[in-house]
Amino acid sequence: MCGIVGYIGNKKASGILLNGLSALEYRGYDSAGIALVNEQIEVIKVKGKVADLVSQCLSIGSELNGTIGIGHTRWATHGKPSKENAHPHSTKKFAIVHNGIIENYKEIDEFLIKNGYKKTSATDTESILLLIDYLSQNINTLEALKKAISILKGSFAIALIHLGEEKIYAAKKESPLLIGIKDNELFLASDLSAFLEHTKQFIVLEENDIAVLEKNGQFEIYNNGVKVQRTIKSVDWNLQTAQKGGFKHFMLKEISEEDEALANTIYAHIFNDKINMDIDEELLKKTDKITIVACGTSYYAGLTSKYFFEELLSIPVNVEIASEFRYLKPIFTQNSIFIAISQSGETADTKESLNLAKSFGVKTISIVNVQESTIARLSDYVLYTLAGPEISVASTKAFVCQLAMLYLFALKIAQLKGIEIKPYLNELMSLPSILKTEFSRLNTEVEKIAKKYANVKNFMYLGRGLSYPLALEGALKLKEISYIHAEGYPAGELKHGPIALIDENTPTFVIAPNFEPLYSKTISNANEVKARNGKIILLSDKFSNIADDFVQVPNTSYFFSAFVNIVPLQLFAYHIANILGNDVDQPRNLAKSVTVE
Ligand code: F6R
Repeated sequence: MCGIVGYIGNKKASGILLNGLSALEYRGYDSAGIALVNEQIEVIKVKGKVADLVSQCLSIGSELNGTIGIGHTRWATHGKPSKENAHPHSTKKFAIVHNGIIENYKEIDEFLIKNGYKKTSATDTESILLLIDYLSQNINTLEALKKAISILKGSFAIALIHLGEEKIYAAKKESPLLIGIKDNELFLASDLSAFLEHTKQFIVLEENDIAVLEKNGQFEIYNNGVKVQRTIKSVDWNLQTAQKGGFKHFMLKEISEEDEALANTIYAHIFNDKINMDIDEELLKKTDKITIVACGTSYYAGLTSKYFFEELLSIPVNVEIASEFRYLKPIFTQNSIFIAISQSGETADTKESLNLAKSFGVKTISIVNVQESTIARLSDYVLYTLAGPEISVASTKAFVCQLAMLYLFALKIAQLKGIEIKPYLNELMSLPSILKTEFSRLNTEVEKIAKKYANVKNFMYLGRGLSYPLALEGALKLKEISYIHAEGYPAGELKHGPIALIDENTPTFVIAPNFEPLYSKTISNANEVKARNGKIILLSDKFSNIADDFVQVPNTSYFFSAFVNIVPLQLFAYHIANILGNDVDQPRNLAKSVTVE
């Protein structure tokens, strides 16, 4: 899982590549590098972040010429994070960057060793490079690339430069790759953010495409040996949406943007009290079962929505973890619908679950944030959340948008079935202004509480009904950015084991919207914690004197409480991680887009 960039034009490539890599750093940040075509292939790479690479390039200074180049920011898969394993990999003639995994690289290595090659890294990428180098002894670069690709098993987005040629070669299978187009310049990148400051015009390469980018903006795309045309698209995201704008971290900025993200997502689909979705209505009307599959935070959005779906539609909704689902024998009814949720649209397990559902002939819908991403393109219908780019690795604004989209989808089916949806629709539409009004207050109050608990080593999160998946999400958020152990549990399950963990050093978050009988039952579970000297942080629209700390959340009806309760949970994780001095936006061991199994 990595980010790749390329530039060919009339400007110095190095600065453009480095800026592009900074925008892509959320895809991985173990090491970074660039390669330029000059009198020789020049490679600069470092173990560490793009900022380290920038310093390295600055120390080389004006000698860093070249108007053709490629770059890479890495999240290690094969081979530990190190300078040797950093991309680009190069021979005297070629340099390559790669995002993906080559499954048969060991067999390729054996072949290469027999033919006198020696690897200098532990990566599967260098195997591709040496294979191309070997094949190019008798054929031109394009033919060598085509031949190499026919041998590779696995996934790849590749960019390749060749000494003596004013070209960039690119190839794509499963991993994303886009060409940015601007007059006499061409850009190559894993996603739009890398070249958005230069152009909003782009092409999404399709499966097994090979592209040859030349100077003066000329390019050709081949698929299975045949020259093909791909549609030029444009996008209205601007780079400012991807900048921190006054906040210390992207994560806090992104939580503060939840009102706007929600408004964009909700209002794009409502017109005159009708829900607009470009999905076959006959299919929706007869739906008798919904299977939702996702990973991590997206999975919790799915799990939270189950309560609303089942209440409203009285049809079964199964919510499954993608890495499990993809190896199951799923049970679909004749009128089942399959929903994949993914912020990035690239998560490998979610993508494979979608493919599995498709193989059963089930109609698939994806809820995705990144336009033109793989999962979006694979599914029969796409519902885009309009959260904008989410840079922080910990997902926040995407979660509320996913949840809103799931609610809208449930309401769409309800409307088609003749169920009265107006009160729900009104409440959904009121959420953006509630979040806008409440953000600052919640942020200040939660920061105070976080200061009190910053040195705690274990937390418990409890909830009932749809507050249970929120407890899971709250615990996940804390774990991933603060590195503090946290457990999310259904409040009623506590006494069946985890209560043994409770003592005066293990505080418990209790999420208890004022909805009976769940409120009283949850408070009674909180009492069990209190009786074991555990501290209670209560999130609710109704105070209880059981609370050691109380976060007053805005009053909503039960099903909409998830949208307001999630905010303090996200803020709490953020402030703890910030107080601890952690790298909030890029927590250790994690990456934004998980394109490997
Ligand atoms: C947690 C987080 C991850 C992602 C998960 C799925 O904050 O970001 O758990 O939610 O990796 O990613 P997407 O939604 O891109 O498929």
